[in-house]
Amino acid sequence: MNDQVAMIQLEQEQIQQLPTAYRVGPITVTPNIILAPMAGVTDSVFRRMILSMGGCGLVSSEMTNAASVSPKLLQRHKLLDYLPEERPFTMQLSGNDPDLVARAAQTIQELGADILDINCGCPSPKVTGGGHGASLLRDLPKLRQVLRAVRAAVTIPVTLKFRAGWDEQHLNYLDTAQIAEEEGIAALALHPRTREQRYTGDADWSRIAAVKRHVTIPVIGSGDVTDAHAALWRLHTSGVDGVMIGRSAMANPWIFGQIAQLRRGEQLFVPAPADKYALLQRYFTMCLEEMPERLALNKLKQFISQFQIGLPGSAAFRASIHHSTSAADAWQQLEAFFASYIELAQIAA
Ligand SMILES: Cc1cc2nc3c(=O)[nH]c(=O)nc-3n(C[C@H](O)[C@H](O)[C@H](O)COP(=O)(O)O)c2cc1C
Repeated sequence: MNDQVAMIQLEQEQIQQLPTAYRVGPITVTPNIILAPMAGVTDSVFRRMILSMGGCGLVSSEMTNAASVSPKLLQRHKLLDYLPEERPFTMQLSGNDPDLVARAAQTIQELGADILDINCGCPSPKVTGGGHGASLLRDLPKLRQVLRAVRAAVTIPVTLKFRAGWDEQHLNYLDTAQIAEEEGIAALALHPRTREQRYTGDADWSRIAAVKRHVTIPVIGSGDVTDAHAALWRLHTSGVDGVMIGRSAMANPWIFGQIAQLRRGEQLFVPAPADKYALLQRYFTMCLEEMPERLALNKLKQFISQFQIGLPGSAAFRASIHHSTSAADAWQQLEAFFASYIELAQIAA
């Protein structure tokens, strides 16, 4: 049964009854609205930008292959880099060799992660082909071994992020959740699509609610939370302990703050063109300060491809950014596009 019922806006009284925090071992995650890990997106710059805007209680590294977590390889990729202001900080590992994942987990603990998350959901053939990510859903005894080995190797809390199953014929989210609880996993995050669905169809939150009823550890729901009202609606109707926001954080990075505003009974902040311009400027500046120009430009292109611009001419602007070949070129496109809207707003004011 799918639960795509019409979402209704909650009354303030109902909002006040929603949970605002949950615990992962010794760590209190508050607010209980968290940034979903997104490979290629949620690097330290993106995470710090989101955290600085308020309303986000926890962030995570991008998924990192356990085989690449050695002091030598860590110098080559920056996937586990983070700054103190990102705490509490989660690092996410993928892997299917219990000993190897356990060794990587120890390194992660030494790197100072507050929480270690195991990925059991990535649908990418490159990842599942190696038996990692969602592939573990096809071998729950192996998943159990991995979790047991990791739990024995570290003292920091271990969490699990998983999908509903490999395909509709093999939905095993309740079994997966139960194994995780039995192995001492501190919290679960379910993205309720199957591996076969990738990102198609709807995220069926009735599956998340079923997991919440099935285990006693905290359960976080992930999938299709498109705005602030939807986040609170999901908390209300599914009974979960927290909500994860992925793609909507790129489309509308203000969403976390907007959820906090709803909770305080305030009017939602609606970003004006000047706010959007300032955010893109800040993001691009941070990228340019911290990475090579080519990578920074790619990050800007990726962000703008998802960012809700909501102004006439957005599609042409996106295309022009997409075709820019240097930072200088991109700056010029940014300025040219937003200048007219900001001037108009100033005249109107
Ligand atoms: C570009 C992209 C990269 C992702 N990378 C990861 C990842 O590294 N680890 C992970 O557990 N989930 C990853 N996900 C899944 C998200 O964390 C999230 O569960 C999913 O996108 C559904 O939530 P949403 O509808 O809020 O985006 C990724 C999703 C996207 C769109």
